[in-house]
Amino acid sequence: MRLGIISALHEEQQGLVEAMEGPYKLIHGMREVWLGKLWEIDAVCVLSRIGKVAAAMTATLLVEKFGVTHIVFTGVAGSGDPSIRVGDVVVAESLVQHDMDASPLFPRHEVPLTGQTHFLSDRQLALQLGHATQAFLDTEFAEVIDSEEQAVFALQAPRLHRGLIASGDQFVNGRERIKALGEALPGLLAVEMEGAAVAQVCFELGIPFGVIRTISDNANENAATDFMRFVKSVAARYAFYIVRQFCRELAASSNQASRVSAGT
Ligand code: ADE
Repeated sequence: MRLGIISALHEEQQGLVEAMEGPYKLIHGMREVWLGKLWEIDAVCVLSRIGKVAAAMTATLLVEKFGVTHIVFTGVAGSGDPSIRVGDVVVAESLVQHDMDASPLFPRHEVPLTGQTHFLSDRQLALQLGHATQAFLDTEFAEVIDSEEQAVFALQAPRLHRGLIASGDQFVNGRERIKALGEALPGLLAVEMEGAAVAQVCFELGIPFGVIRTISDNANENAATDFMRFVKSVAARYAFYIVRQFCRELAASSNQASRVSAGT
């Protein structure tokens, strides 16, 4: 396994590169690509920058040039439903490009000539990411995000959600807009700007992928301010501890599998 880890912003990936064992940096396609071991897992970390094209290019590079076999996207998102609060975490089960509209030639949201509106994330990766997230929220969260920060962001017992994430080349910052997206896309949990593009690339290349997003804002008129504050202050810690837990669990299960096959 070689795991590609993509984030859109520096703050979302801060810490992971520092935690790499034997890090090795390459520059390709205007991107810094870091190769090394993350908690025993062969990993490649890269920033995509923002938006669907940037994310699609990054995912393609990771697979075609850097040989990754699995991709995880970590970052932040706006809430797509009033029950989902800032500080909650969403693990994607499926992803849709909310700004894709080739109607009436193709159904609304269908990516033309793929037959897909919703791209499914890998079940196993989604389960493992959900497990790692729950472990983080249950234990480390209270240790690594102090009570003052919890109060600033009104983080009250943050929860894990699994379901639909919508991506588009738009920062959603209006009550009416997020309401309309929720009505057009039943089950919508979160909105962001990259996940469904990575999902399409992985679908077309046959690469298992997962997307995990911490809610930074409510996609309303305050979204830009809330987003900036959240990204500056706590987002990196969510991503770091969840990815650490995820890699440790992956390493433990692969060590156990090798012991079983060696009969020891
Ligand atoms: N990422 C974080 N918040 C977002 C929002 N409100 N719209 C789009 N992408 C986001």
